[in-house]
Amino acid sequence: MHHFAYRDGILHAEDVPLPAIAAAIGTPTYVYSSATLERHYRVFRDALAIPDARIFYAVKANGNLGVLMTLARLGAGADTVSEGEIRKAIAAGIPPERIVFSGVGKTAEELAYAVGAGIHQINVESEGELEALSAIAAGLGRRQAVVLRVNPEIGAGGHAKITTGGAANKFGISFAEAERLYAHAANMPGIAIEGLAVHIGSQIDELSALEAAFRRLAEIVRGLRAQGLAVTRLDLGGGLGIPYAMSPPYEHGPGLIEAYGAMVRDVTAGLDVELGFEPGRIIAGNAGILLARVLYVNARADRRFLVIDAAMNDLVRPAMYDAYHEIWPVSEPEPDAVRLAYDIVGPICESSDTFATGRELPALAPGDLIAFKTAGAYGASMSSTYNQRRLVAEVLVKERQFAATRPRQTYEELLGTDRAPDWF
Ligand code: LLP
Repeated sequence: MHHFAYRDGILHAEDVPLPAIAAAIGTPTYVYSSATLERHYRVFRDALAIPDARIFYAVKANGNLGVLMTLARLGAGADTVSEGEIRKAIAAGIPPERIVFSGVGKTAEELAYAVGAGIHQINVESEGELEALSAIAAGLGRRQAVVLRVNPEIGAGGHAKITTGGAANKFGISFAEAERLYAHAANMPGIAIEGLAVHIGSQIDELSALEAAFRRLAEIVRGLRAQGLAVTRLDLGGGLGIPYAMSPPYEHGPGLIEAYGAMVRDVTAGLDVELGFEPGRIIAGNAGILLARVLYVNARADRRFLVIDAAMNDLVRPAMYDAYHEIWPVSEPEPDAVRLAYDIVGPICESSDTFATGRELPALAPGDLIAFKTAGAYGASMSSTYNQRRLVAEVLVKERQFAATRPRQTYEELLGTDRAPDWF
């Protein structure tokens, strides 16, 4: 469930009418709902029903300061994949003891920063990384808590580009190697080896592959213990999917989160480990919309292009993954309004700057506002300045209040970071 709904014919975010945000901040602008973020965090936590579970929100889904502060207050930790994300999580009030650091390509500088910051855990993905981290931590006089990310050779996800657990994917150590590397790690001076991690993909709406991967992990835990090695933690990653193409009421797939919680409890029963989770999309996905304005309607004999002021640099998911986002007019259409087929496109100079083709919507005119639904995860966080467009603005709503938690980039900021070479 989310808190974007029509009231008196106008789409609202909580108690704020979206035209008020467009008037104050301009468009395109991402709008996030605090109540929706809070609700999803609690729904996930309650569905797990594992009292000491640790929830590390995946910052990559949406790293906006206001979003992170909202989740920090609920007790969320952070799953991070770069020094920048660690810094941002700390700046938002998430203490280092609630931060984990994942990723296949952490640099020596990033590892040293993470160790020095005293984060909860580093999810190591290769033997080379393990050696590098041990040397760095030992050099700092520390032993860093580590889990090994295993590639279970079971992938899943809503698109090939977001599947990570398959044998052909770059992520993690092979499960055949897990026991050997774990035993090796147990003897390394800078490493406190605690357990294993897995993350097989994103936008997963069916639990069987997740369950198979978790069972594989549990098998490795038993093998390690049989060798006398201690295992105290499992990090089960993120990946749960959300509905993108469903009109209200807009719930998570029927009972998916509850079924996930029950499956996890079943698979990990008796393992006696601390469990960690890295949900991203399920927390932030439908807590955000992208608000945009119609610039032109370019009607040709065979197609009707709706040219809007948002572009693929602001929301890249349709161009990159052929992703579907519902599009709602901000002014509520009459129930019997005639619908027309539009190709919805942005101003960028390539044809991939297309959000939807043949999308049936009530008649729209220049100046009208529209909202891309379910844009809270991997929307703003993947935005860029392609075509020298300023980074999109982001607004957090809480009941009647709203604030630009990232004001629209200025042209001074956009252009001011470049430097002319000396020879000119
Ligand atoms: N943990 C790890 C190690 C991950 O790689 C990811 C996502 C997550 C957790 C969070 O997964 P989630 O719960 O959000 O599915 N840009 C793509 C999604 C990429 C996901 C990358 N990894 C999209 O727009 O669909």
